Amino acid sequence: MKRILVTGSAGQIGSELIPELRKKYGKDNVIATDIRKDPPLSIIDGEYEILDCLDRKKIFQFVKEFKIDTIYHLAALLSGVAEAKPDLAWKINIDGLYNVLEVARELNCSVFTPSSIGAFGPTTPPDKTPQDTIQRPTSMYGVTKVSGELLCDYYFKRFKVDTRGVRYPGIISNVTLPGGGTTDYAVDIYYKAIQEGKFTCNIKKGTFMDMMYMPDAIEAAIQVMEAPAENLQHRNAFNVTAMTFDPEMIAASIKKYLPDFKMDYQIDPIKQDIAESWPNSLDDSAARKEWNWNPKYDLDAMTKDMLFVLQKRLNPES
Ligand code: SER
Repeated sequence: MKRILVTGSAGQIGSELIPELRKKYGKDNVIATDIRKDPPLSIIDGEYEILDCLDRKKIFQFVKEFKIDTIYHLAALLSGVAEAKPDLAWKINIDGLYNVLEVARELNCSVFTPSSIGAFGPTTPPDKTPQDTIQRPTSMYGVTKVSGELLCDYYFKRFKVDTRGVRYPGIISNVTLPGGGTTDYAVDIYYKAIQEGKFTCNIKKGTFMDMMYMPDAIEAAIQVMEAPAENLQHRNAFNVTAMTFDPEMIAASIKKYLPDFKMDYQIDPIKQDIAESWPNSLDDSAARKEWNWNPKYDLDAMTKDMLFVLQKRLNPES
């Protein structure tokens, strides 16, 4: 049985990955860590420790003490925050990853690291973006993501550390808010649809980005780590996607269930600039071929589930 340590567990992905990992590998085999002293309830039914990924000594100590063999390294800043705080983004997204890789090298752990559609840039072919293509991102987030992909490849090639990862698109979820990403509008829209019946979108109509519902994102993280090594030609940074849409399409999907829903626009120029530099749609055939990636949720299936879950939680009386 794997012994897993997760960094950044209190974030959007961690708060839903932890329960799934505990279900699959056993509660006692998954240590959740984060810098937050008030972590979400979903992750504190098992071991929870305060851990800053900038503290290499403490990572080393935990990995040794808990006999960890697999690290899911989720601690990172998203694109909007990274653009506002580039210095901190470099520290967390690069120095943090470097610390984890060094500990993994010394103590022989496998490492999962999420990359992102942010690893692409304006000169990348935007439609059906290939697995291996031009990567010249123009955001600080993108710079850290490409560097992270390369660093993970290097640790595998040079030190045989079993590094793996996926390039996540925007992830839509209903447990923990993402906080600071360019694709966050596609999460916020569901909350506002339930709470206010209307939404002001900060991304322009006609701006397409890849997206994915959280259950598929969790499945991707577990599946790529479980894949037999001999099947992997790529290791880190597999393109994965489940759908692509622009703001009008997600609004239309919501209207199928809430016909009175209204949307207007107030564009955030920094996020719009980032969104335009990212692909419209990814080609994820390498993930499909090498480890059977096969997402379950399309836009309408996701909308139905999001609205159902949020309705029950935010408006239990109605
Ligand atoms: N959801 C992320 C962001 O918008 C992209 O990986 O920053």
